[in-house]
Amino acid sequence: MQTAAIDALLQETRVFPPSEAFVKQANINDPTIYERAAQDFEGFWAHYAETMLEWFEKWHTVLEWNPPYAKWFLGGKLNACYNCVDRHVRTWRKNKAALIWEGEPGDERVLTYGDLYREVQKFANVLKSLGVQKGDRVCIYMPLVPEVIIAMLACARIGAPHSVVFGGFSAEALADRINDAQAKVLVTADGGWRRGNIVPLKHNADEALRHAPSVQKVVVFKRIGGDYTVTMQEGRDYWWHDLMKDAPLTCPAEPMDSEDLLYILYTSGSTGKPKGIMHTTGGYMVGVTLTAKWVFDLKDEDVYWCTADVGWVTGHSYIVYGPLSNGATCVIYEGAPDYPDRDRFWAIVEKYRVTIMYTAPTAIRAFMKWGEQYPRKHDLSSLRLLGSVGEPINPEAWMWYHEHIGGGRCPIVDTWWQTETGAIMITPLPGIVATKPGSATKPFPGIFPAILNDQGQPVGVNQGGYLVITKPWPSMTRGLWGDPERFVQTYWSKFEGVYFTGDGARLDEDGYYWLLGRVDDVINVSGHRLSTMEIESALVDHPAVAEAAVIGVHHEIKGQGIAAFVIVKEGYQADGGLQEELKQHVVKKIGAIARPDQIIFTAELPKTRSGKIMRRLLRDIAEGRALGDTTTLADPSVVQALKEKYEGQEE
Ligand code: WT7
Repeated sequence: MQTAAIDALLQETRVFPPSEAFVKQANINDPTIYERAAQDFEGFWAHYAETMLEWFEKWHTVLEWNPPYAKWFLGGKLNACYNCVDRHVRTWRKNKAALIWEGEPGDERVLTYGDLYREVQKFANVLKSLGVQKGDRVCIYMPLVPEVIIAMLACARIGAPHSVVFGGFSAEALADRINDAQAKVLVTADGGWRRGNIVPLKHNADEALRHAPSVQKVVVFKRIGGDYTVTMQEGRDYWWHDLMKDAPLTCPAEPMDSEDLLYILYTSGSTGKPKGIMHTTGGYMVGVTLTAKWVFDLKDEDVYWCTADVGWVTGHSYIVYGPLSNGATCVIYEGAPDYPDRDRFWAIVEKYRVTIMYTAPTAIRAFMKWGEQYPRKHDLSSLRLLGSVGEPINPEAWMWYHEHIGGGRCPIVDTWWQTETGAIMITPLPGIVATKPGSATKPFPGIFPAILNDQGQPVGVNQGGYLVITKPWPSMTRGLWGDPERFVQTYWSKFEGVYFTGDGARLDEDGYYWLLGRVDDVINVSGHRLSTMEIESALVDHPAVAEAAVIGVHHEIKGQGIAAFVIVKEGYQADGGLQEELKQHVVKKIGAIARPDQIIFTAELPKTRSGKIMRRLLRDIAEGRALGDTTTLADPSVVQALKEKYEGQEE
């Protein structure tokens, strides 16, 4: 555990209780909810499962727990799409805005729940006409346009698990994910917009499909059009608008078993191969629906904006399934926060009178750096609640968000969770919990974390340890697609019978959780999760590289930046040209999010006598600290030489 990080956070003593006015109107403001949930956690979840969702058939058993395998709401039948769309259409919400879309070049569209109902059924029929049946996997590789959500919901409607791949991933990363899930159909677009440039999605897809033979049909949404042309392969590729033209208007929602697979979402682990996190229907919908309602205090009058892309779990749970299940109005935005100017987010808040905003610390730190003149140009008085997710939020960024965006009046919910947990786990309930800048505060009712030391014993107050979850919860992942051993190995082997998160945390004297970052080889760059080994594999794939070691280093904006120590093969020139080439190679293999910030050439890497790379020492070097314990090294002179070289290179 990094003691410096703990010490810094220990000094944070500010407390912000919610205002009386906020408490009064909050969806949940009864503090006894915590004890009540703890007394009977199965009963707690069952109560909200029953009241918050519509089931075609009720379950007979709330929970079956055979660690590490949980089943929730056994025998229950429901449909996620039906809960997000159909049930609202039968009420006054039929003509309520479901999605308010802002495209990067400035185009805009509003889709009501009634519109979603029609479009989703039509697209579900399109998928069926392409041969998609219940259980078949559909891969979605799209920009953030309403159609990506229509496609997801259409999959859910017919029981075809979707696997959404973020549009920033490379062709190779896409191919890996398609192959792992053996997806039958790919839904993509000609391209997407990013800072005025076209992201060539269809081109990437074509390249991916050369190595991904499971895909039989491709649907292409025309986002760019005009002069921008893409190749369409006869008999394989179809335009979205052509297929939709004649698609029948009705398609019944398939009654799914609670434990039927809703989706697979790939995320990085500590080895190179991405993990296909599986989420099933009943428990997941219960988790995201209740957390969205309580954590974001969602009301019918709200305009809610989660700035994530649907390619990440934040988008799945808190753009699509959670908010729509609650019948909320959601803003979605295709582009970057600084395009065409650095006030784009605030212009959007003002334009749509956004009331709830959910974003990431990396964005907040960038806004801080750009300066408060950008938010000050806009009327942000509609905002009433702010959220943060993706990485620990440093108290300075929290305070800036509070003052310059929230005008000092909005509660901030710092929400800790993971792709694997499906829904928010540690968070303030904004009408109950006083917040402290930098702390995710308390476990959500019905969630039971603990902080353990290496021996599996709970640590004392203010001591760092491993964050675990001790009881099952409805939205927990049901495992890794096609890799049950890795599931057990990664999450359930460090400690007996409890879920290991991979994060470090400490608990303060008030029972508040302070997250301290990953304790494994996962790094968090701008809230995006990457594996150091995945980047290392991409580097050694280049003919010039003999060996590579990748570490996350402190970065002012991104939280962590990527530093790669590289040993070059004989006959190659270790120069600036190669540095650039290697960075580009990683972008090609994984995507721009994995582009290394620094490439440091070295003749050797510090290794233990058993041959393990000592990343801790590399971090010490890259972050300019005195070297820690080097006694276990096979050759201590290696690291000293490297430190001198690194410090020389920096000047
Ligand atoms: C990892 C999970 C869950 C949505 C986005 C990321 C880190 C996430 C917080 C937070 C401190 C956080 C953890 C976690 N993380 N939220 N509020 N405070 N750390 O999902 O890609 O699955 O990454 O993100 O390290 O393990 P993910």
